[in-house]
Amino acid sequence: MSGHHHEIRIKELLGRMSTEEKLGQLQQLAWAWDTGPGGADTEAATAAARAGLLGSVLNVVGAAAGNALQRVAVEESRLGIPLVFGLDVIHGYHTTFPVPLAQAAAFDPAVTETDGEVSAREARSNGTHWTFSPMMDVTHEPRWGRIAESIGEDPYLTSCYAAAKVRGYQGTDLTAPDRVAACAKHFAAYGGAEGGRDYNTVDVSEQRLRNLYLPPFRAAVGAGAATVMAAFNTVSGVPAHANPHTLTRVLKQEWEFDGVVVSDWTGVQELIAHGHAANESEAARLALSAGVDMEMVSTTFVDHGRALLASRALTAERLDDAVARVLRLKLRLGLFENPYADESTAITAPTAEARAAAREVAGRCVVLLKNDGVLPLAPSTLRSLAVIGPFADTGDQLGTWSLPGAPESVPVLQGLRDALPDAEVRYALGAAAEGGDTSGFAEAVAAAQAADAVVLVLGEPAAISGEAAVRSDLGLPGVQEELIAAVTATGRPCAVVLVGGRPLTIGSWAEKVPAILMAWHLGIEAGPAIADVLTGAVNPGGKLPVTFPRTVGQVPLYYNHERTGRPYDPAEPDTKFVSKYLDVADGPEFPFGHGLSYTTFELDDPVLSRERISADELRAGATVEVAVTVRNTGDRAGDEVVQLYLQDPVASIAQPVRRLRGFQRVRMLAPGAEQTVRFTLGADDIGFWTNDPAGLFTVETGEIHLHTGNSSSTQARRTLVVTWPENVRPDARPAAA
Ligand code: NOJ
Repeated sequence: MSGHHHEIRIKELLGRMSTEEKLGQLQQLAWAWDTGPGGADTEAATAAARAGLLGSVLNVVGAAAGNALQRVAVEESRLGIPLVFGLDVIHGYHTTFPVPLAQAAAFDPAVTETDGEVSAREARSNGTHWTFSPMMDVTHEPRWGRIAESIGEDPYLTSCYAAAKVRGYQGTDLTAPDRVAACAKHFAAYGGAEGGRDYNTVDVSEQRLRNLYLPPFRAAVGAGAATVMAAFNTVSGVPAHANPHTLTRVLKQEWEFDGVVVSDWTGVQELIAHGHAANESEAARLALSAGVDMEMVSTTFVDHGRALLASRALTAERLDDAVARVLRLKLRLGLFENPYADESTAITAPTAEARAAAREVAGRCVVLLKNDGVLPLAPSTLRSLAVIGPFADTGDQLGTWSLPGAPESVPVLQGLRDALPDAEVRYALGAAAEGGDTSGFAEAVAAAQAADAVVLVLGEPAAISGEAAVRSDLGLPGVQEELIAAVTATGRPCAVVLVGGRPLTIGSWAEKVPAILMAWHLGIEAGPAIADVLTGAVNPGGKLPVTFPRTVGQVPLYYNHERTGRPYDPAEPDTKFVSKYLDVADGPEFPFGHGLSYTTFELDDPVLSRERISADELRAGATVEVAVTVRNTGDRAGDEVVQLYLQDPVASIAQPVRRLRGFQRVRMLAPGAEQTVRFTLGADDIGFWTNDPAGLFTVETGEIHLHTGNSSSTQARRTLVVTWPENVRPDARPAAA
C-alpha cells in the first residue's frame, strides 16, 4: 500500500473513531515480562485492548504472547485496530552484539547495520514490530552509564551510525517479516546530563544543540526512522517531553517528520516532578501540544484528554494528528493486513550465521590501546598461558540491555583454550570485580609465575553501566588495580584486556603493563573474539569513539572542544594563566580516534581536488575532494581508519579545535600495499549552525584547515588550507541550502 492509500485509510478510520478510541491509540502500556501473563499490567493491557482503548504494548516477548494479545485487539475490539509491539532490542535479540559504544569503536557503520539486520530478523520473527533503538545521544560524560548505549562524543560518527542502524532495522519495506520500525532516541540532548547523573538538567545553547546533539537525529530522520522518543531531561529549562521547540518546530516542521513521537517511560507524568506541570491534566496538555504523540506507561492522555478537548486546552486537530501518526506507523508495518507473527518460523536461538556475524563484528570493535610487543601471543611457540581476573571466566559480557533468555557470552577463557589447543592454559580468578577480597591473589601470582605469558581480564560488570548506572570514579572497581600490581610484579609478559561500558581511567597502572586491549562488552561471542585478537588471528583496527581521560577530575574532556582565549600550549607547559589543571598533565590518556595495530601504517599528506572554492559554489552543491593514501609499512595485513578533521579558525561562533568530517576503515591492507581514500566535503561539512532560534546554518568565508591522520591528535603537517574569495559581505553571510 502506498503512502497515498495510507492517508485515505487514516482519514476513513479517524472518521469512525470515538474520542476515547482516539486517545486509546495514544496509549502504550507495559507487559510484565518477568511476572508473565496474569500480572497486573498484563491484565490492564488485555482489558484496554479488548475495549479498543490501547495503541501499543511494550515488553511483550515472544510470538505466542504477542499473538494472543493481538487477537484480543483485532478480533474483540470494535474497530479491530491492531496493536504495535515495542521492545528495547538495543544490540541484539537472541544474538547479542557488542554494546553500541563498542560498535562505534569499529569506525565502520557496516557493523551496526549488521547488528540491525540480525536483530530485526530475530525480533520481528518473534512478534516485535518496533525497537526503541538506535540511541544517538552524543555525550561528553564517561560517568554517565548510558554512554555504553551511545556512539560516544562525536556528532558526525554518531550520525553515520544512526543512519546505518535505521537502515539495518528498517530496510526499505517495514511490512517485511524481517524488519522492525526504529526509534531515534532520546530527543534531545539527554547525553548532556550535568555531572553525568542520569536524567539530570541540560542547559544548552541553540548552536550547541544544533551542532552537537541534533545532527544524528536529523540523519536518522533522513534515513526514514519511523519513530522518535522524547528524552527525560530538560532542554534549557523546558523538559524535552513538553518542548515545542525541539519536538514540533525542529522535528516535525523543519524536518517534516511524519512518524510517531513516543514518550519515554512515564516521561509525561514526570513533568510534574520536573516542576513544569502542576498536575496530570496539565502534563498531558503540555506534552501533547508540544508534540508527544504516544504516552509510554503513564496514562495522562487517556485520563485527561477528553476534558482537555472539552475545555479547548487541546485542539481536535492536534489529537487527530497524533492518532494519524500512530495509525501511519501501523500501516507502514503492514499490521492491518498481517497482525500476527508466524509462530512456526519464530527464531528461537542464535543461528550459526548470526553467531559468526557477532564474532566478526566483535573482533572489529577491539581497540589496541598500547602494545610494547607482547601481543599478539604466538600460538606456535607459546607453551603455557595464565588467564587471570574477574572477567576471564564469565558470561557477563553482554553489556547493558540484553533480553531475557538471550544466551550468555562465551567466556574469554573458553575462547583462549579453543584458540591455543597446544598450550597449557591455567585460570585463576585473582579477585572479584567488586569488593575488597584479596585472598585469591596468591593463586593468581602462582599461575602467572608458572606461565610463559599472562592475560589479565579486568574491568567493570555490565550492571554498573547503562541506565541509572552512574559512577563518580572511572577507575577499575574493587581491588583489581592491586591485582595488576601483584601479577605484574612477577615480571611475566602480561597483557590486560579491559571489559566495560565506558572509558576507564588507567593512568595509575598503564605503565606497569606492556599491552592493553579495550574490549568493551563484546556480546555473545566476546571470548572467541578476544582470543582472535590476542592470538593475532584478527589484527585489531578499532579506534576510540570517546576520549579516555587521565583522571575523572578532567571530565568533561573531549577532543572537539571549543577554542578559548587562553589555550594551553604544550610547548610552554608552565605558563600560568591558561586553561589547564595544576595537578594533572594536559590532555587525555588516549585521544578520540586512537587505536593501534599489530602492523604499522604511514599516511601521506592529503591532496585536495581544489584549494579555493566560493561560498556560492558550496551553496550550489559544489564539493572538494580530499584524497589520502595509506600504506601498510609493517609485516602483517591489517585495518587502518583514515580520519579527516576540519577546523574553521575564524568564525562568528567559536568553533571546535577540530571536528571529524570523514572516516574510512581500510580493510586488510597487505604488507607493502597502499590504498587511496577519498572524502568529499560540501557545505554541510564546512558550515555550522548559529544561535538563531529559527535555525540558521551558515557557511562563512575564510580559511578551513583540514587535518588527516589515524587519530584526532593527528599533527599539523597534515594541515592544508582552503580559502574562499571574499565575495560575500560579512553582514550578509549566506546560509547554505
Ligand atoms: C527508559 C529508557 O530511557 C528508554 O531508553 C527505554 O526505551 C524505555 N525505558 C523503555 O524500556
